[in-house]
Amino acid sequence: MPTLKIFVGTMYGGALDVAEQVKPLFEDAGYEVAIFEQPTLDDLLEPPTELALFCVSTTGSGDFPGNFVPFARAIDERHPSLTELRYGLIALGDSSYGDTFCGAGRSLDALLEEHGAQRLGERLEVDAMETFMADDAALPWAEAWIDEQQLRHG
Ligand SMILES: Cc1cc2nc3c(=O)[nH]c(=O)nc-3n(C[C@H](O)[C@H](O)[C@H](O)COP(=O)(O)O)c2cc1C
Repeated sequence: MPTLKIFVGTMYGGALDVAEQVKPLFEDAGYEVAIFEQPTLDDLLEPPTELALFCVSTTGSGDFPGNFVPFARAIDERHPSLTELRYGLIALGDSSYGDTFCGAGRSLDALLEEHGAQRLGERLEVDAMETFMADDAALPWAEAWIDEQQLRHG
């Protein structure tokens, strides 16, 4: 059975809730799903990951949540080749923060691309100003993502 790894960056649990809510959709699509709440780069590299979903909120001024900092820092420091990785990205943010809206998700996207990973489809940006429960936006996005990217197995 193929594996989907979901990497979570969260301060208050919203992004983890999204990960837990979309998990059954991927199980129904034929994946074994692993959620990483304290992700490390080794979780991505050992064994090498072919498909990942990142659920990452933004804190500070466009910054990564504390639990995600070691992961992002390790990519910066170790410069892994991520050419085998295809990924989706759900960014949580709040447009009232202006220029730093979804800053962590956007930085992560750039960082992954810089290291050769290929994003499938568009990044979802969930705006807390418009969407009270991030799941309301994330669930339909994940369903469409599975179909449009032909990720269904068996
Ligand atoms: C102290 C603080 C700083 C924040 N800074 C930003 C920011 O710079 N950009 C942004 O888009 N959202 C920002 N947010 C909004 C959060 O990203 C948003 O509420 C998100 O849904 C939180 O998700 P979480 O529950 O997974 O942590 C900030 C929230 C807090 C409390």
